[in-house]
Amino acid sequence: MIKIAPSILSADFSRLAEDLCRVKDADWLHVDVMDGHFVPNISFGFPIMEVLPGITDQFLDVHLMIQNPSTYIPRFAELGAGLITVHAEACVHLHRVVQQIKELGVKAGVALNPGTPLNAILHVLEDVDLILVMTVNPGFGGQPFISTMLPKIEELRRLIAAKDLSVDIQVDGGINLQTAPQVVAAGANVLVAGSAIFRSPDPGRMIAELRTV
Ligand code: DX5
Ligand code: ZN
Repeated sequence: MIKIAPSILSADFSRLAEDLCRVKDADWLHVDVMDGHFVPNISFGFPIMEVLPGITDQFLDVHLMIQNPSTYIPRFAELGAGLITVHAEACVHLHRVVQQIKELGVKAGVALNPGTPLNAILHVLEDVDLILVMTVNPGFGGQPFISTMLPKIEELRRLIAAKDLSVDIQVDGGINLQTAPQVVAAGANVLVAGSAIFRSPDPGRMIAELRTV
């Protein structure tokens, strides 16, 4: 079963509640937090996270593109994150950070930049709920899909199957009706999409189409 997670980075923040209403049929809501250090862009943080539970009851999938995530994880958990994903590249003690997330009663994910090999998550694979394979270099919405990530997704799917685990494979960046079938065929089951959904004239229909590629 494919899950679709619209990235609110591409929403219109002057009418966020209205935009979230347009994606109410999505499975998760993807919340991109950027700090201007780990990635060359600043998005938003706690103030937006604080208002989300008041305007949506959707599952909040928080993607932390920040340095020192462990300092901020407790507050995101308190504000209603259902899943918190940290970047392997931002964690010196990745195993410890994964345990920290789980101890707060939140699902734990680990993200890999396009240039980071799967080796980086090999020894936490049994501990996580999700691995996010970035299909663009993180920092901005609307970038083109990096197709050389397809064999990486395939290899990760094989690893998860070989260990008989039920870890989700999420992809993020450049996902649209052209690239979605490729990532699904490679083994991804959670698709993040920002511009493809929010810039579509009918976001609800786009979500349904992406889900059934
Ligand atoms: C990129 C973010 C993505 C981004 C995806 O750094 O993590 O979630 O919003 O946007 P699209 O789908 O437009 O590539
Ligand atoms: Zn993201």
